[in-house]
Amino acid sequence: MTPPEPAPSVPADAGPQPELLARTFAGWRSQRGMLADAHRTGSFERAIAAVVRPGMTVADVGCGSGILSLFAARAGAARVHALEATRMIDDAAEVARANGFADRIDFVAGDARHFQAADGLDAVIGEWIGMYLFEEWRHFDAFAAVRDRWLRPGGIVMPRRVRLYLAPIDDSRLYVERGPGFWERPVWGFDFGLVHRRQLDRTRRIIVKADRRTLLDTWCILDLDCAVDDSRAYFFERRFETRFTFSAGCHGLLGWFELDLAPGIVLSTSPDSLDTHWHQSYFPFEQLQVQPGDSLTARVETTPAADNGTPAVGLRVDLRRGEDIVASRAGHYTLHDTQG
Ligand SMILES: C[S@@+](CC[C@H](N)C(=O)[O-])C[C@H]1O[C@@H](n2cnc3c(N)ncnc32)[C@H](O)[C@@H]1O
Repeated sequence: MTPPEPAPSVPADAGPQPELLARTFAGWRSQRGMLADAHRTGSFERAIAAVVRPGMTVADVGCGSGILSLFAARAGAARVHALEATRMIDDAAEVARANGFADRIDFVAGDARHFQAADGLDAVIGEWIGMYLFEEWRHFDAFAAVRDRWLRPGGIVMPRRVRLYLAPIDDSRLYVERGPGFWERPVWGFDFGLVHRRQLDRTRRIIVKADRRTLLDTWCILDLDCAVDDSRAYFFERRFETRFTFSAGCHGLLGWFELDLAPGIVLSTSPDSLDTHWHQSYFPFEQLQVQPGDSLTARVETTPAADNGTPAVGLRVDLRRGEDIVASRAGHYTLHDTQG
């Protein structure tokens, strides 16, 4: 058997840091995790089969294992440009060859932002969704660059829309098992309040599988139009309010997102959907006790992290009773940077 030829390269520049991208995506561990996520990958498969028509030209921005390109080719695309920044592209090309798609999928190595589509594109697809959406924000910009430069008027984008949610939760189990509540009680009979105070000072987002029955309300904090937006839309400030007619504990906020992939095909990562590798994101704060008549007001602000520009989530939550603010919580939650 002849060894596969390395895919042709486009020049690298100040886009995603190649080493960090390679650490996250060049090996099969993370690609396998995404392939094994049946809700995620199955939803993309159905959506691609629903909208890609025979004869179309498609770009798959950040093809990884090549799975979305294979779906597009299987749906009848005449040409699929599979764009990937890491050396995973060599294995992806070999997989495509082994499955008889070498003539219809061309693999282009390097930062997708530099891709040149000779004849324009009928569809731009990609899975550029980080944990709590934001982590792969640079990848979204690569998707937007290919879309803005090469997509024909009226062409297809996938995903079409992304909605990001936050919800106040009453979940004492999560609070104790995964959040700061563990340190509020005696630990083997000893007071570890010092760790509790320190944890509340250093807020962090925790990946969890949550229970939908704990949601007190749901706030849509971002509604992204993937046909026009880019990662600048990730930076915003919004305010929300929930009025209570019942008593409850509030142990922080829970985050998730929904992707509109194609007409009628929504991939949701909410706690009442099938689980995905994204699970949900828990933003804990010191518990609040609300009473009937109280309201919870929140200010959500996303700002670029000083070191790498990844959106960080700033939260301020006030518990209002009548005219008074009776308790406040604030936190600045940095997210991971998977792209450098
Ligand atoms: C979340 S994975 C998705 C992989 C595959 N499309 C799938 O759905 O299983 C994102 C992939 O995009 C690649 N990527 C991220 N930014 C890129 C860029 N600017 N240019 C090319 N590839 C990029 C990563 O290396 C990674 O393999």
